[in-house]
Amino acid sequence: MTPALRLEGVSKSFGGLQAVRDVSFELHQGEILGLIGPNGAGKTTLINLIAGAYRPTGGRIVLGARDVTGRPPYVLARLGVARTFQIVRVFKEMTVWDNVVGGALFAGRSGGAHRARERAAATLEFVGLGALAHRRAGDIGLAEQKRVQLARALAMQPAVLLLDEAMAGLTHGEIHAALELVRAVHRRGVTLIVIEHLMKVIMELSHRVIVMHHGRVLAQGRPADVVADPQVVAAYFGERYSHRAVRTRPGAGPGDAPGEGRRVTP
Ligand SMILES: Nc1ncnc2c1ncn2[C@@H]1O[C@H](COP(=O)(O)OP(=O)(O)O)[C@@H](O)[C@H]1O
Ligand SMILES: [Mg+2]
Repeated sequence: MTPALRLEGVSKSFGGLQAVRDVSFELHQGEILGLIGPNGAGKTTLINLIAGAYRPTGGRIVLGARDVTGRPPYVLARLGVARTFQIVRVFKEMTVWDNVVGGALFAGRSGGAHRARERAAATLEFVGLGALAHRRAGDIGLAEQKRVQLARALAMQPAVLLLDEAMAGLTHGEIHAALELVRAVHRRGVTLIVIEHLMKVIMELSHRVIVMHHGRVLAQGRPADVVADPQVVAAYFGERYSHRAVRTRPGAGPGDAPGEGRRVTP
């Protein structure tokens, strides 16, 4: 089967800084791909490249059978790529409802304003925000604002959804609910790339994991194998720790080392 998405040697430089270096991978149809790596590894930049916010300085991005390298965000949205932002971006002065209708219209896959409103209503119910539809988006809590972002993205009816730390800053209860929601999105047939620092979330959600470090792909594979990889542990904690963790606890990795469910930072 044609992959949902294929990156071939994708690079991005900001002046002298190479944020993403020669990254190649395939995202399979129906997959949840976890994308992890220490702060500054290039994860958000990669999402920005896939969503068309940045033009790669090298390489190719292929969506289905179509080369979309360098195409702008609205084109990618229309071709079925939606994303959420690490730093939550909602139109704070607008209602929750208008935020989501805006997403439905932006993707232009709606078949008109009437259909866009219908989809916005269904999507708000789906993410559990029906009761908050007429609130100002700036007045609701962080977890709810993150759901607005998600609803906005879902209202575009994406085939591929890119989630950039959708659960950062949430409480345990909110994370649990967000996990269930992402699973429900996946059951609807959406293919996902999920960036999360919370290893528990990555382990529970991902079919496959890619680890980035200094802009490159450091490792990829099954979640359990990847977090046990000494190179990956070293990227997170440094060499000395990795030897000890791997020797004393087979299978130990960045997930369990700092305490389950705790934030993993380099
Ligand atoms: N717009 C930008 N201009 C200049 N440097 C950037 C820009 N965006 C990201 N960077 C740099 O690129 C590197 C990767 O950043 P980022 O992709 O945000 O990493 P991550 O999401 O993995 O924490 C960092 O060194 C960051 O400072
Ligand atoms: Mg980031």
